[in-house]
Amino acid sequence: MSASNDASSEEPTRRDFIHIMTVSAVGAGAVATVWPMVSQMNPDASVRALSTKEVDLSSVSVGQAIKVMWQGKPVFIRRRTPEEISDAEATAIAELKDTNARSGNVGAAAEATDAARVTDSLGVARPEWLILVGVCTHLGCIPLGTSAGENRGEYNGWFCPCHGSHYDVSGRIRKGPAPDNLPIPPFQFISDTVVKIG
Ligand code: FES
Repeated sequence: MSASNDASSEEPTRRDFIHIMTVSAVGAGAVATVWPMVSQMNPDASVRALSTKEVDLSSVSVGQAIKVMWQGKPVFIRRRTPEEISDAEATAIAELKDTNARSGNVGAAAEATDAARVTDSLGVARPEWLILVGVCTHLGCIPLGTSAGENRGEYNGWFCPCHGSHYDVSGRIRKGPAPDNLPIPPFQFISDTVVKIG
């Protein structure tokens, strides 16, 4: 075999070069076509991040409440005292204006026991932690009772000053025009001190 033949077998000819370029262009086009499809099938990470919120509760002391924002709504998180838990658990269903738990964590038909209201989406109840969507079920005001010194109403929970609705220490409506208990958002504890809402 001649030296020139060896060279022609190892170096791409002009025709090979055109072929390689054509294949590359087709491959790139295929990737460009497939990528938007893959991208549409996977929810954007920023959208997923907005739909859930992780809250570190390690600095919340017993008896304290905080407010965080989730999906544009206020969420109240209260670390209840043993006395508050006892009061909430002792309330009979027959005393309630709204007997539904208002929590997707326990099913649509669940009664508004305190245990149902503090159960997370994994089925675990942590009575110390009450987590509510803080929007009055009457006409949508933000009830008082989360910040220190605010009026907590006649049932030591939350008070909506707009038209005088009183919620108890389980967030259940007890007096006033609001028809429903404050709803419980989907949530689950991902450690002893971190809760994921949403
Ligand atoms: S909006 Fe709360 S009582 Fe009317």
